[in-house]
Amino acid sequence: MMNVAILISGTGSIMLAIIKHFHLRYQNKISFTVISNNPDALGLQKAKDIGIKTISINHKNYKTREQFDTELNRELQDLKIDFVVLAGFMRILTKNFVESWNGKMTNTHPSLLPSFKGANAVRDALDYGVKITGTTVHWVSSDVDCGKIIAQDFVMINQDDNELSLQEKIKQKEQILYPKVLEEIFIKFL
Ligand code: GRF
Repeated sequence: MMNVAILISGTGSIMLAIIKHFHLRYQNKISFTVISNNPDALGLQKAKDIGIKTISINHKNYKTREQFDTELNRELQDLKIDFVVLAGFMRILTKNFVESWNGKMTNTHPSLLPSFKGANAVRDALDYGVKITGTTVHWVSSDVDCGKIIAQDFVMINQDDNELSLQEKIKQKEQILYPKVLEEIFIKFL
């Protein structure tokens, strides 16, 4: 049995797409836990609704990033997690944490990296006026949004797109690309 943690901070639509993808194909071979730094994340309830174990570790209860990451790592070790999937997890992780999950942690970012790194990638792409943006699945390295690229897909930006519509179009692509990429990575564990 492969144990996977999906880390989220918000609505969790990509988390849900990943879990559904694997449940259809590998139900008895993979077990998911959803962890959020935000106790109010909508995704936590979505995961609970489909019977997935959830944990919330409120980052506001920790004075430093190191303390939060230590607690997060403790949970991951307790759960015997093999792989960490970041899916809309809006916290910067410390170098030590990232290094301890080297080769076992991926992220999805809503732009064609290396363009538009950071937390406002969708708005930044719109503001810049690019006509094509997209999504990147990458390994997580200690420099934010700089890890080795695994896969990308593109989205055309129309004149009438706003941040919300563009974000939705990108999420649609992420919900297809990220599960596919993870399946290719996980196949050797399953
Ligand atoms: C995704 O677009 C992801 O790339 C970004 O945050 C969004 C998460 O969406 N970092 P959701 O919470 O899965 O709906």
